[in-house]
Amino acid sequence: MNRRPLVIAIDGPAGSGKGTLAAALARRFGLAHLDTGRLYRATAAIVLRGGGNPADAEVAAAAARRLDFALLADPGLRDEAVGNAASVVAGIPEVRAALLAFQREFAAHPPKPARGAVLDGRDIGTVVCPDAAVKLYVTASAAERARRRVKELRESGAPAIYEAVLQDIEERDARDSLRRVAPLAAAPDAIEIDTTRLDPDAVLEQASKLVTRALAAGH
Ligand code: DC
Repeated sequence: MNRRPLVIAIDGPAGSGKGTLAAALARRFGLAHLDTGRLYRATAAIVLRGGGNPADAEVAAAAARRLDFALLADPGLRDEAVGNAASVVAGIPEVRAALLAFQREFAAHPPKPARGAVLDGRDIGTVVCPDAAVKLYVTASAAERARRRVKELRESGAPAIYEAVLQDIEERDARDSLRRVAPLAAAPDAIEIDTTRLDPDAVLEQASKLVTRALAAGH
């Protein structure tokens, strides 16, 4: 019986396929999964629903501190407006500090019977779980990520203009990568997977080999 839970950290930009990979790895290896973007989205949703400004540090930090984790399952969190506001609240140090303990607690004590946890986000390998057994940095070109997002939106019945979605993705990338606190970045020991020309099964196979190797090494 392993004493330490197996922790897999997956970081990357929006639409890179990191969420799909995280969910698939969790299923395959019996791990709990935390999509940490939902914590920022839920914080943003509370601010927006209260009529507040997501850039207001005090209001956003108060929302992060009183986060009701039942809200994480809310389908409204996927809305574009919530996503954009999430990227704004994510730049506020007090918000990140308020959400850090929950993420670390999830990794250290994943809900039973999971033998470990997969966390995906922007700063998992660098800040939240720097000791993770496996660190992946999942990328894809902005054009490909926009194409995937347009397909997803149209399939859900929403209208989508490719150029507008691409611009949105580029703006969000810039905000996530250039912010002062915990910017989107690959940990020096992360293994990069570029999914631009890979389907989700191929990405899962590549990542699974790394996880299997970590397990064989005693994690
Ligand atoms: O992955 P996502 O689109 O659901 O994330 C929403 C926003 O939250 C995104 O703009 C970046 C931010 N985020 C973050 O700063 N750190 C994380 N660990 C996860 C998400």
